[in-house]
Amino acid sequence: MSRMVVLACLGLFVQSACSSLPARNPSPEAVRDVPASIVEVVSIGAQTVSSPDGTLAVMIDDSTEHALWSVTIDGSPVVQPGRLGLRFVEVPGFDRDLEIVAAETQSVNVPWEQPWGEQRMMQEHYNELLVTLAEQGTGRRLKVRFRAFDDGIGFRYEVPVLTPDGRISITDELTEFKVDENSRSWWIWAGNFNRYEYVYQSTPLQKVDRAHTPFTLQTPQGTYVTIHEAALVDYPATWLDQQRAGVLKTSLVPWSDGVRAKKEGAFSTPWRTVQIGRKATDLLNSDLILNLNEPNKLGDVSWVEPGRYVGIWWCMHLGKCTWGSGETHGATTVRAKEYIDFAAENGFSGVLIEGWNIGWDGDWYTNGEVFDFTKPYPDFDLEEITAYALEKGVRLIGHHETSGAVTNYEKQMGAAFDLFERVGVRQVKTGYVADAGGIQRIDETGIRRFEWHDGQFMSRHHLHVVEEAAKRKISINSHEPIKDTGLRRTYPNWISREGARGMEYNAWGFPDISPPEHETVLPWTRMMAGPMDFTPGIFDLAWDGLEADNRVRTTLTKQLALYVTIYSPIQMAADLPENYLKYPGAFEFIKRVPTDWEQSIAIAGEVGDYVAYARQERLGRDWYVGAVTDEEARTLDVALDFLEPGVTYTAKIWRDGDGADWETAPYDMVIETRDLTSADRLTLRLAPGGGAALWLTPAAATLSE
Ligand code: NOJ
Ligand code: CA
Repeated sequence: MSRMVVLACLGLFVQSACSSLPARNPSPEAVRDVPASIVEVVSIGAQTVSSPDGTLAVMIDDSTEHALWSVTIDGSPVVQPGRLGLRFVEVPGFDRDLEIVAAETQSVNVPWEQPWGEQRMMQEHYNELLVTLAEQGTGRRLKVRFRAFDDGIGFRYEVPVLTPDGRISITDELTEFKVDENSRSWWIWAGNFNRYEYVYQSTPLQKVDRAHTPFTLQTPQGTYVTIHEAALVDYPATWLDQQRAGVLKTSLVPWSDGVRAKKEGAFSTPWRTVQIGRKATDLLNSDLILNLNEPNKLGDVSWVEPGRYVGIWWCMHLGKCTWGSGETHGATTVRAKEYIDFAAENGFSGVLIEGWNIGWDGDWYTNGEVFDFTKPYPDFDLEEITAYALEKGVRLIGHHETSGAVTNYEKQMGAAFDLFERVGVRQVKTGYVADAGGIQRIDETGIRRFEWHDGQFMSRHHLHVVEEAAKRKISINSHEPIKDTGLRRTYPNWISREGARGMEYNAWGFPDISPPEHETVLPWTRMMAGPMDFTPGIFDLAWDGLEADNRVRTTLTKQLALYVTIYSPIQMAADLPENYLKYPGAFEFIKRVPTDWEQSIAIAGEVGDYVAYARQERLGRDWYVGAVTDEEARTLDVALDFLEPGVTYTAKIWRDGDGADWETAPYDMVIETRDLTSADRLTLRLAPGGGAALWLTPAAATLSE
C-alpha cells in the first residue's frame, strides 16, 4: 500500500535542521548549509522485477516500518522478506521509514568475451529495477539497484553524499537474507583464525553462527541457493551472521577501530547476490558473479598467460627442503635449473620458486617485516636462472610472501615488481600467512594496527597490488587472499587465488584432515566465487604410509580429475618431479589437459557427494571430462550430448581400477581407449575417494596426429 508522509522536511542533512524531529548524532558541520524545503513524500508502492525467462522475481516493499526485499522462484518464496539499510557514524542511518518514491527499469542483453576463462563467450542478460527510497520526515534518498538474471539476482546500494565534507563512516549494513530455517547448508566459519582454510561443514541451517560467503543451502523444497557478493571494491567483505532462525544478516568486516567502511563522496556498495538453481549443477553453471562485475579496465591483456606450472614448493611442505637458507635450502640455482629442465621437457610454462628472497630464516610466520623483496639469497642467482628459463621457453613464477606485514610489502612493492619485470617474470604468487585479524598496517602515526584479511584495508591493498602488477604486465595469484567476487573480469591479471583449504594441508596432516568429501563440496562453496589455485596432482599419495595422517585421501585417478573439476587458468603439478616419472601414463593427462576453455558444463553432481564437468578446450574441438566422488563409490552415468553430433570421438579414459580405494589401493588405475559419440552415455565406476578423467578428440584428428 502506498503511504503519504505529510509535510516532511527534505534535504541532505535535514535531520538536524528539522526541529520537530529528535536529532541523532548531530555534528556541528552537519547542521550548516541545510536546505530546509518542506515536501510531501509519497510512496509509489511495492516494486517487482522478473528475470528474462520470467521464473525469478525480486520484490521491494515499503508497506511496513522497514523496506523489505524478497525473491520468488516460479511464484514461491525462496528469499523471504528481509531488511535493507545502512547505519553511519556521522549522520542517522537509512534504517526505517523508507518510502519507494521512484522506480526505473531497463533490460540488457549483451554478449562479451573473456580473455581467458571457463567460458569464452558470455551473455549479460538481465532486467533491472532502480528504486529510489526517501526517508519519511527528512526526504534523504538512497537508491537500490536490483538486477534479475535467469540464474539469480543481485542488488547494491547507491549512496549519495551525506555529509558536508563527503566523508562517511559505515557502522553497519542491515541487509538480511531470510531463508527457510529448515534448509541444509554448506559453510565455513568466518572471523576465525584460519581465514578461509577450513573443512566445509554440512549442517542444518540452524547450526550456522557466522559464516563466510559463498554460502550454499538447499531449501526443504529442494531449491539450491548460494549467497555471495560481486565486485568487492574499496569496501569490506561481508560475513553472514545468523540472527533469528533463518535470518542471515550482513556483517561487514570491521577496521581495527571498529568502523566497518570508510567512504568519501557518493558510492555504491558491492552487489549482494543470490544464485538459484533447481538442480545442484544449475549453481555451478551460473555466470552471475562475473556478469555483475565491470568490464576489463586493462585493455590489451594478451600478456596474461594461462598455463601449467611446477615448482620448488611441495618439498618444503613435506619437510624435505626449507624456505630458509642453509644446507636444506630449496631455492638454489642448481635445483631451479633442474626444475626448469623438467618443465621444458614436459610442456610446463612456469616454475614457481619459493624461499628465494631474504627473510625466511627464523619465525617468518609472525615476523613478516624482515622480508626483502629485491634481495635473493646468495645461492639463488636470479639473473642466471631467469635467463636460463627464457632460453628453455619457460618463465620463472615469482613469489612474495608478506606474512601479513602489508605496510612492509607496500613500501617495497614498486621496486619488487620492477625487478621481476626486468628479468621476464610474468606471474607472481603473493602470500599473507598471518592468522585472521593479524594483517599488520602501520598507520600515519606509526602505530601498528591489526586488520582482517577481508576488511576494507585489504580490499584496497589487493587492488593496489593488481594495478601495480598490471603496469609491469605481471599477473597475480594471491594466497591467503580476500575472497573472490569476480574482479578478474575488470582486472584479468588477477589470475587466480587460494582462499580455501588447498592441497598443502594433506602434506601437514594438521590441524585436522581434509576428508575425501572436500573436493565435492568445493565446487558449490569456494568455487562459486572464481578460480582457485588448489595445486592438485600429487602422485605419491602416502609418503609416510597409508595409515599416516599426513597423506592425500584420494585415488591417483581423482588427482587427475581435479584438473577438470577445480577450475583455474593456472594449474600446478604440485608433486616432486621424480614422482611424475614413476607414473608416465597418469602424467600424460596432466601434460595434456588445458587450463583455458571454450566452454564448461557441470554435467552431474550433488553437493558433498560427487561432481562431473565437461570442458571444451579454447578455440579447439577436444573435450575433457573430470568426475570426482567423496568417500562413497558410485557409478557415474552421464549423457554425452555436449559433444558435436555426428562426430566420432576417440576417448582416452583414465579410471579407477576395479580394486581401487583411496584408503587401501589408491594407485589402482586403468587407462583405456574407446570410441564415443554424442548419442552415447558414459558409465564409469568411481572408487571410494576416486574419480575419472577423459580426453575426447574427434577420431579423424587423432588419426592425422
Ligand atoms: C601458504 C601458501 O598457501 C603456500 O602455498 C606457501 O607455500 C606458504 N604459504 C609460504 O608462502
Ligand atoms: Ca594457504
